[in-house]
Amino acid sequence: MSSRSSDRRQRQEAKPNSVVVVEATAVSPGMVEAFARLVPQLSSSSPGPSGADLEEIVSSPASVLLIASDASGDIVGSLTLALFRVPTGVRAWIEDVVVDEAARGAGAGEALVMAALARAEAEGAKSVDLTSRPSREGANRLYIRLGFEARQTNVYRYNSER
Ligand SMILES: CC(C)(COP(=O)(O)OP(=O)(O)OC[C@H]1O[C@@H](n2cnc3c(N)ncnc32)[C@H](O)[C@@H]1OP(=O)(O)O)[C@@H](O)C(=O)NCCC(=O)NCCS
Repeated sequence: MSSRSSDRRQRQEAKPNSVVVVEATAVSPGMVEAFARLVPQLSSSSPGPSGADLEEIVSSPASVLLIASDASGDIVGSLTLALFRVPTGVRAWIEDVVVDEAARGAGAGEALVMAALARAEAEGAKSVDLTSRPSREGANRLYIRLGFEARQTNVYRYNSER
């Protein structure tokens, strides 16, 4: 085990944390309600996903939907891990990390990211990528604290709606 992943695991074990992270394998009405609350906190222009949208994420081999719940079982956050094979190996991308404003600062974000890193490693991904706007200060601090490093690369986007 690399010293960095050992450090990360020790930090995870050291943090008392009542947040539980599980991979969603089915979609419940409670999940649809939770995403309607969470997604606008990530992107004000995006409505929450429908049950069918969530079903598509959950049933796809290319995506893992992680759900964080508090001690009373309420959904407080989510993260989606995209996993796919390309000629150079297994790629893993973390997307749509969000924790309900009322539940922030209790370790849910860290628990979600750590669960995604463990899952990506188990799937054979040698690295995990994500992007985060600099204005997302809390998120950027969290990723750096957990061992992510900024890459020198250009990030491009082609918008089909011009
Ligand atoms: C980024 C985000 C997922 C972090 O979730 P979280 O559950 O608060 O994460 P953690 O509790 O593990 O860590 C949050 C940090 O804020 C601190 N914090 C303490 N109280 C806090 C509070 N009331 N609100 C926010 N952060 C708080 C934590 O101690 C921790 O410290 P750090 O700055 O050293 O990293 C969450 O803030 C969020 O959903 N933000 C809006 C959406 C977003 O930016 N998503 C990321 C997209 S790339």
